[in-house]
Amino acid sequence: MTPAEQSLKAAEICRLAPVVPVLVIEDLAQARPLAEALVAGGLPALEVTLRTPCALDAIRAMAQVPGGVVGAGTLLTPADVKAAKAAGACFGVSPGATDRLIAACADEGLPLLPGGATASEIMALLDRGYTVQKFFPAEQSGGAAFLKSIGAPIPQVRFCPTGGISLKNAADYLSLPNILCIGGSWVAPKDALARRDWAQVTRLAAEAARLPRG
Ligand code: 3PG
Repeated sequence: MTPAEQSLKAAEICRLAPVVPVLVIEDLAQARPLAEALVAGGLPALEVTLRTPCALDAIRAMAQVPGGVVGAGTLLTPADVKAAKAAGACFGVSPGATDRLIAACADEGLPLLPGGATASEIMALLDRGYTVQKFFPAEQSGGAAFLKSIGAPIPQVRFCPTGGISLKNAADYLSLPNILCIGGSWVAPKDALARRDWAQVTRLAAEAARLPRG
């Protein structure tokens, strides 16, 4: 799968809703009800970060949820790409990009949303064919002001910014023409997960799903 094909698929996924929940799942039993709660609230695309021992099993469980489009985040190595694909991930997200990671996504046929955070990184990914990129860590790398500025010389790249985004600053990003969606963990707060308060997760998801896009 070429980078251009990967970006087409990534754009399709990013357009499903204004927000992609970024999920860190510590307890496998939470995976399915969490995905159901988020999908019920109107957020079908879900990023499960490969940061916990049960992350791959969580992807396996969540991939069964009707209406969900489950991806793997924090892809760092070709082995991560292989494992994510085998677990049923429909897409991958990485904080940055390496030649080996890009080659693995092409080989495995896993659409990648690769991370860039500087003009040169964004240009290098565009050179490879990636017109849809993650901007990470968004707030720490210049936030919405950076994305507005980079949209002038490089309008053909669209972004999903993540890192430090919440309801407070979501509109700053979503109003920009080069933003397809935003990612964030605020829709699945740790305390709600610990309480298994799925109604609260659905409320937060619904609020996020209603955010207007520019
Ligand atoms: C991450 O990699 O953890 C994501 O970018 C989410 O960041 P957030 O927790 O600040 O939303």
